[in-house]
Amino acid sequence: MTDDQRSIANNQSLYLKSEKALFMDAVLATLTANQSAALETLKELLRIPSVSAISAHKPDVRRAAEFVRNQLSSAGLTTELVETAGHPIVYAEWLQAADAPTVLIYGHYDVQPPDPLDKWVTPAFEPTVRDGYIWARGATDDKGQMLTHVLSVAAWLKTTGRLPINVKFVIEGEEEVGSDNLDTFLDTRREQLRSDVAVISDTSQYAPGIPAVTYGLRGILACEVRVHGPKQDLHSGIFGGSITNPANALARLIGSLHDANGRVQIPGFYDDVQPLTDSERAGFAALPFNEKDFFASVGVEAGWGEAGFTSTERRWARPTCDVNGLTAGYQGEGPKTIIPSWASAKITCRLVPNQDAHKLSKSLGSFLNANCPPGCRVEFLEHHGCPGFVADANSPFMAAAKAAIERAFGTAPVLIREGGSIPVVATLKQMLGIDTLLLGWGQNTDNLHSPNEHFSIADFHKGTLASACLWQEIANRAQ
Ligand code: BES
Ligand code: ZN
Repeated sequence: MTDDQRSIANNQSLYLKSEKALFMDAVLATLTANQSAALETLKELLRIPSVSAISAHKPDVRRAAEFVRNQLSSAGLTTELVETAGHPIVYAEWLQAADAPTVLIYGHYDVQPPDPLDKWVTPAFEPTVRDGYIWARGATDDKGQMLTHVLSVAAWLKTTGRLPINVKFVIEGEEEVGSDNLDTFLDTRREQLRSDVAVISDTSQYAPGIPAVTYGLRGILACEVRVHGPKQDLHSGIFGGSITNPANALARLIGSLHDANGRVQIPGFYDDVQPLTDSERAGFAALPFNEKDFFASVGVEAGWGEAGFTSTERRWARPTCDVNGLTAGYQGEGPKTIIPSWASAKITCRLVPNQDAHKLSKSLGSFLNANCPPGCRVEFLEHHGCPGFVADANSPFMAAAKAAIERAFGTAPVLIREGGSIPVVATLKQMLGIDTLLLGWGQNTDNLHSPNEHFSIADFHKGTLASACLWQEIANRAQ
């Protein structure tokens, strides 16, 4: 190459770099100029009570899917509403960035039931702005967070007519009930969904002012145990003391799930657990954390858990077994003296990588059966399950995510794991062979699954900017 040629090549590359920067700035300007419209779009989606668990809401769930699809169509993507045995999946793609990476963006438009309704300050499906937050069921989990990616892609296409990468959106309506029909969709469309990396915003920042990239999630096993006793409720004076009370029996069974050190007693429970490495433990311990404040934030005075592990380790990287719901006997006003005919408990185990939900379910079922006292019978039902997940924290995609977040939030993110579960993450790894960037814009104190769910409006906008930056950062690293 002559000096002249070198200088021309150099100028071209400078020109391309500055063109990229100008495009990026223009996209961010579009997003900043349209913030109030973005909030209105979020409010519209939040008004739709898309509760996937409750069959009466089936038409609402479909309306939410159609709303998301319309947003993506208007943005300029090719879209499809995919029917499943349950709620529909919204699929959308824009694949015109030749030779650039392809990103699969996953989110969910379904929400948890809003109960208990009387605990909401403003109604769950009447989104209200108060104190810099938007309050409604789904504000953070996951309508608000999911929408940030829809808005950023729309802004790129509106401003520049293109995207620096290819995108494939998969927005489902059954995440909150275990994503039962998603696997079939992913399985039958492996070729169409082929991507280099997945992006999900359905987790949390580490704390206010401390954004995070999450590289691990726990899995889950959800099941139910019913203890059956006498053929109907009986007078507890006439029969009490002479037959097994199913409610008492269930309480004993639940009590036997843990020992005094908080260790789960289901045989083989810890056999496959991937132990924490010293460097991970050091990484967790280096994060700012005040245990007293943590307990106070949920209104308790002291913690509990497996001996030998910190609260953070217990939540992010150790398996658990918890009762989520307990039903037995008379629940109405005043006393009623009966031996109930049955008792039931909904139980979930949170799993860490390498544990198998189905294997544990078998073990838990046998444990409960073996320990059920005579005079009662255990019925065990497995609801759903998914494995835990840990991603490569040093990939170029992680570096892209960190740079995008730092630009939008003004602070570099910390690297964390989380205790919650997002079933699709392990499936994407298994079926498409790709890792997921878990980029949460919410906070764990946003009351997810609880009354008065909310999402910081500032973080909604920052998340949208970070998303817009992420597409360029991923493209930059692919060259
Ligand atoms: N968004 C949550 C998961 C989450 C929240 C992960 C905060 C990390 C931090 C998700 O919608 C959820 O609640 N998932 C369920 C999955 C289950 C029903 C299969 C969960 O974890 O309980
Ligand atoms: Zn969610």
